[in-house]
Amino acid sequence: MNHPGLTGRTIVITGAAGGQGAAEALMLEAAGARVIATDVGKATPPVFAGTAVAYRRLDVTDETGWAALAEQLSADLDGAPLRGLVNNAGITHRARLGNTQRADWDRVLAVNLTGAMLGIQALAPLMGEGSSIVNIGSAAGLTAHYTAAYTASKWGLRGLTHVAATEYGPRGIRVNAVHPGFIETDMTANAPVAMRGAQLDLTPLERLGHADEVAGVVVFLLSDAAAYVSGAEIPVDGAFTSSAGVKYMADRIAAASAPTTP
Ligand code: NAI
Repeated sequence: MNHPGLTGRTIVITGAAGGQGAAEALMLEAAGARVIATDVGKATPPVFAGTAVAYRRLDVTDETGWAALAEQLSADLDGAPLRGLVNNAGITHRARLGNTQRADWDRVLAVNLTGAMLGIQALAPLMGEGSSIVNIGSAAGLTAHYTAAYTASKWGLRGLTHVAATEYGPRGIRVNAVHPGFIETDMTANAPVAMRGAQLDLTPLERLGHADEVAGVVVFLLSDAAAYVSGAEIPVDGAFTSSAGVKYMADRIAAASAPTTP
């Protein structure tokens, strides 16, 4: 796939030790970008062995960590702009509102929403014309998903995306959100069987998604092919949110009205 303008560009990705973040890092590296993958662990994740992806420890909830990264980048870039930030780090907490403890609520919002806000505040000053920020939301942020704190955090991230697109647009910085559906990663490996089955029933493409299928859209948004795309939200969910549950109803109606064999 041809992605104009990524060669030599420096792009930071959070939560990139595995799953979607790692897939994005590897796809961007293959497209010629200079990728700085970050996550909470100290050691370089094995997925980056033998690649040019640089790894750095960063807890997205830690303001001093963001400030240290900004300082390092400022020195490394030597006046050139930082071209991309992917706010991908995220955690889930599978509990409904009545069973959500304050500590869990705070923890989920701190990573999924405040982490992205701190990242934009720390790194946008290093960006310029043609830079791109991608926030990884969720289909949960487009629906009333079961996971109360997670869902609220992803709705909040949508607001942050539009605020940032408005504020930084005059500087030529684009800000967009990508909303994955059910993607096979560590986050969903332990999802209840019922959740997995219901997701399949509600997804028109009738399969779950892969990390590379989200990464392709993220890489597009970081590239010049998306030069006039800002403030957009792109679901990557096999039409799950587009169908809005209607697939389930339509399948049931169709089954009930199917001609019976004599
Ligand atoms: P994952 O669990 O493989 O990756 C999440 C990464 O975030 C992990 O590597 C984890 O170490 C890192 N992380 C957690 N707390 C952090 C912190 N404080 N600072 C820095 N990094 C931290 O899961 P996946 O699927 O790759 O998730 C990536 C993004 O996609 C997340 O924002 C998630 O909410 C979102 N998403 C995932 C979906 C799925 O079905 N897997 C669906 C919709 C959205």
